Amino acid sequence: MKISVVTLFPDLYKPFFATSLVNRAQQAGIIDTKTYDLFSYAAPKERIDGPTFGHGAGMVIKPEVIERAVADVEGKQGPAYKVFFSPKGKKMNQRMLQRLYERMQEQKKEHLMLLPARYEGMDARIENEYADDIISIGDFVLMGGDLPAMVFLEGLLRFIPAVVGKAESVQQDSFSGPFVDYPEYTAPVEWRGYIVPEILRSGNHKAIAEWRQASVAQESVIHHFDWVRSYPTFTSSEQTAIERVLPNHYVVLMHSDVLICEDKVTTKKGTTSVTSLDIHDIARSAATYGLKKYFIVTPLVDQQAIVKTLLGFWQHGAGVSYNNHRHEAVNHVIVESTLEHVITQITQREGKAPLVIATGARRDNHPGSISFNDQETVWMHQRPVLIVLGTGRGLCPELIQQCDYRLIPLEGFSSFNHLSVRSAAAVIFDRWLGKNPRNIDKDVTLRMTA
Ligand SMILES: C[S@@+](CC[C@H](N)C(=O)[O-])C[C@H]1O[C@@H](n2cnc3c(N)ncnc32)[C@H](O)[C@@H]1O
Repeated sequence: MKISVVTLFPDLYKPFFATSLVNRAQQAGIIDTKTYDLFSYAAPKERIDGPTFGHGAGMVIKPEVIERAVADVEGKQGPAYKVFFSPKGKKMNQRMLQRLYERMQEQKKEHLMLLPARYEGMDARIENEYADDIISIGDFVLMGGDLPAMVFLEGLLRFIPAVVGKAESVQQDSFSGPFVDYPEYTAPVEWRGYIVPEILRSGNHKAIAEWRQASVAQESVIHHFDWVRSYPTFTSSEQTAIERVLPNHYVVLMHSDVLICEDKVTTKKGTTSVTSLDIHDIARSAATYGLKKYFIVTPLVDQQAIVKTLLGFWQHGAGVSYNNHRHEAVNHVIVESTLEHVITQITQREGKAPLVIATGARRDNHPGSISFNDQETVWMHQRPVLIVLGTGRGLCPELIQQCDYRLIPLEGFSSFNHLSVRSAAAVIFDRWLGKNPRNIDKDVTLRMTA
């Protein structure tokens, strides 16, 4: 692969290209790198940059200078796959690098041109006209695109066969699939009291493979859930490994210990009535997201009887054959008289007490609040999780106080946030536990047409 870098600072690349695997790949003729000084494409006394139109700080690289550079380099090296760098570009990840490499193969492009910018960046029309991809290496701003270009190259070159000695190590790299890489150890067996897991020294290949699969699933689900859930497809063994690691989740809908209206403005602690929609719909959402049980708490005997009658229809009555999916979902519903009874039941089933997460629509900054990105905070304790939903005007403050965590309210970009509890339940389950696959072909930059 021919690699051309058009830069204001060609010297930065000298040690990079002369070192390590990049140098070896060059010596072996797998890659052929060249740098081009962007200043050489400016006419004598011409500046390569100009002030931005409209009021604004900083200078912008001129389009004609890049136009000349692209024409010259492509004239010498052939049509190129052109990559620009910008904090506004698509965020780089392993999947995107792999797709980009594959796309170069599909397009039979053997020439890669990198165009890192400086100052305030390039005139916006340049990227529109030339960029096959605009890449960001993260949500921060560097002084120039040269380090991003080197970071990009280090990642991309690993996909070229023979650049990295063993293809196997690339295939097993972190983020090559839904999981990160497994932990690796070398001699000595004991260091500062830490001992290399015995199984890795056992020579039992099957046991080692199983240990590694379990350990990558554990590490990935607990610490990189956003990556795992973004993965588009899973093998059945990956799916099983994920299900084994995910802590068991439960949900409870509280009809007691909730706030109800005293008059038009004030609320008091009270009890609400059950509704059949909340029974069915939350049961179906809970089943969809793999929650183990859906508890309904009401201390009122007549209300318990109503729930049991409804459940009876779907659990044992005509509903079983009428709609088997509904039967399956409703089969996991249990009526209880208090939250304490729910916690006791879960503790008995699991052998560990659950961590309890309160939910609510109120926007008060509670110190124990967690967001929908804080699964790691909860899951690292390796305990079951109980999500508590309120009815009426929401859970009463005393109950919220007793919970281990409180989830921030669900909100859109509007001032209205009065979801029904069954709608909120579905959104909460999805944001906390749901898959969120990313289309790998959208991991690349979509260009505007002129
Ligand atoms: C000072 S930055 C310009 C930042 C620009 N004003 C902005 O906020 O988007 C100059 C150049 O550095 C490169 N650069 C800076 N941060 C980057 C990042 N996170 N990823 C990729 N390139 C980056 C880009 O080539 C960018 O045009």
